[in-house]
Amino acid sequence: MAEAAEFTSPGGCPVSPQAAAFDAFEGPYQVDPADALRWSRDQEPVFYSPKLGYWVVSRYDDIKAVFRDNILFSPCNALEKVTPFSDEAMAVLKSYDYAMNRTMVNEDEPAHMERRRALMEHFIPANLEPRQEMVRRLTREKMDAFIDDGRADLVARMLYEVPLTVALEFLGVPPDDQETLKRFSVAHTVNTWGRPTPEQQVEVAHSVGKFWRYAGEVLDKMRAEPDGPGWMHYAIRRNAEIPEVVTDSYLHSMMMAIIVAAHETTALASTNMFKLLLTHRDAWADICADPSLIPNAVEESLRYAGSIVAWRRQTTAPATVGGVDLPEGAKLMIVMASANRDTRQFENADSFDIYRDSAIDHLSFGYGSHQCMGKNIARMEMRIFLEEMSRRLPHLRLSEQEFSYLPNTSFRGPEALWVEWDPSRNPERAAPALRDRQLHFPVGAPQRKDIARPVRVAALRQEAEGVLGVTLEDTRGRPLPDWSAGAHVELCLDGYERKYSLCGRDGRYEVAILREEAGRGGSRHFHEALREGAELKLRGPSNLFKLDETAPHHVLVAGGIGITPILAMADRLKALGKPYELHYAGRSRASMAFLDRLQADHGAALRLYPKSEGARADLAAIVDALPEGARLHVCGPERMISALEDRTRHLPEGTLRFEHFAADAPALDPAVERPFEVELADSGFSVAVPADTTLLEALRVAGVDLPSDCCEGLCGSCEVSVLDGAVDHRDKVLTRAERAANRRMMACCSRARDGKRLRLA
Ligand code: FES
Repeated sequence: MAEAAEFTSPGGCPVSPQAAAFDAFEGPYQVDPADALRWSRDQEPVFYSPKLGYWVVSRYDDIKAVFRDNILFSPCNALEKVTPFSDEAMAVLKSYDYAMNRTMVNEDEPAHMERRRALMEHFIPANLEPRQEMVRRLTREKMDAFIDDGRADLVARMLYEVPLTVALEFLGVPPDDQETLKRFSVAHTVNTWGRPTPEQQVEVAHSVGKFWRYAGEVLDKMRAEPDGPGWMHYAIRRNAEIPEVVTDSYLHSMMMAIIVAAHETTALASTNMFKLLLTHRDAWADICADPSLIPNAVEESLRYAGSIVAWRRQTTAPATVGGVDLPEGAKLMIVMASANRDTRQFENADSFDIYRDSAIDHLSFGYGSHQCMGKNIARMEMRIFLEEMSRRLPHLRLSEQEFSYLPNTSFRGPEALWVEWDPSRNPERAAPALRDRQLHFPVGAPQRKDIARPVRVAALRQEAEGVLGVTLEDTRGRPLPDWSAGAHVELCLDGYERKYSLCGRDGRYEVAILREEAGRGGSRHFHEALREGAELKLRGPSNLFKLDETAPHHVLVAGGIGITPILAMADRLKALGKPYELHYAGRSRASMAFLDRLQADHGAALRLYPKSEGARADLAAIVDALPEGARLHVCGPERMISALEDRTRHLPEGTLRFEHFAADAPALDPAVERPFEVELADSGFSVAVPADTTLLEALRVAGVDLPSDCCEGLCGSCEVSVLDGAVDHRDKVLTRAERAANRRMMACCSRARDGKRLRLA
């Protein structure tokens, strides 16, 4: 504690020992930034780091909120030097007329969006599609050069040069001395995000100064041929057309920044991906056997070990983040690597799981109006690298080696990646045509519907009248991923996809399926088609109904088949030794699932209300008897949840947590629905939403990455902000008041009222 007392935040508050010890340039953060901030995610999600001089933000929701509000949290400091330079180093920079100014990355509104809109066109998926061919050709050429060697540093032989060549081609910048550019890029990273010593600062300043001049010279050359190809030529033409939006100084700064941004991040992310996959051999083997897994494996790699681990923002007014009050001018370091492993957001977050259907929700590309414009170029390259390597060298393995990283706050990836293989086993020696085989993955984010893991029915049993108990196991005998109480999975069989809560243990999953005669046929089909030994696909687990384990007391209420997640919660609370009570209502004992197990495991806490015996749960009495600070978790029919919502209105927010039955989402009926159009204020684009398409689907086709989970209006993850236009709300997330305010909507289910136009932030 003596150490903590030595430091205070700018507001004068004492700094905790862990916060005082936090060092972004060495120690655990450099080894594994997500792991290094585990304590922060758990105990102090926003803390002041005296060594860094920044407020560090580590939780997913907080970071997303910061990204979302780029007015209150200005990006103006994103390219500031984390370590201020000495006077001598500054003098060196000055001698090169170094005048790095605003770029797309650190520009405030309204200039940022004006420029982004003016320059966005080249980045949309349809315009990137033709570039796949070039990436593949370059990748094959590089692989041809080392495929018979049996050993290679992938960074030196492929993963640096291909992204650089692709980037230069995309920009229209003439290919130049790649080694020099690499040196410049490293200098730029150290200059902006590193902690160089005073001697290094002078050296770095010279390299950065030369890079600045080089960028200027390239720009001048390109100006001489204004009709040239590529994005920078396009930007030069826009500069001539709208000089007040795309200014001269902006072009020079962009030129330097984008040469780095366009390739360095992809090279590092690709290196991280191969390191991860070759370490997780099961995942590598699965990809070799089924290349359709590649797009999501790339996304999961970006989640688990993205190349941009942290970014910066600065408050423009007093703000509150994660419950911590920050003054105007507070500098924030938001650590996306930590957000990406936040268990509040990702189930089983510390596991690398290429079947994770929520991997796309990672924040490695940022979020909101400043989201990385080049994200789809990076995805495209990483997919092709992975496809070519896994097809041509499935026997690849990681060599014994020590990994080294460039110490800095924000960019992460090994400087070399040595791999080895037995060339005599190269598949194309026996089958030469294999070299030229290829798949096509459309540019853009992977579709959630394409992601599912194979499972097998290990056991079936009758849990109650009309309730089928199903135990599922991995088809390859591996343990299925861990999950937390309240989680669910989605079963996929013969075109039917339905969500069921989990209640099993020990690496296998248990679900209970109520046969709903009046439903759309999913539960009937599962009842009739499932057999022991049958194989099917499964998505998840995901958890939209988390148990608040911090509460001093829990009251659990289940109606009918809603007992499944409630049983898992009771199991968990018992294991934690926390006080709880469990109220379970149903038609009759015969129709109530898990009664034996409940009696055996939770008998003392259990109250049963079989309607056939005249028993009724007195919800008012349950609410009135809630101890202070207790949490009430309920899963059951709509009327039960509404009644509890009414009864708990006077209690502190968060007291009641509920999950609706994952009711069959009604399919869009194009005969009834109306098409509409949305305008995206961020980009100025208009997106047409046809009558048979959800807003979420239409936005994704347009290249907008939007998280989603339930796709039924239950979870709130696909929320978008509404600036203008009336919404036909169809979710179960927003309150009546929130609907009336008309400022938010769920893109997976809600639409424009009367087919009119909406304007979204
Ligand atoms: Fe869950 Fe839209 S994805 S509410």
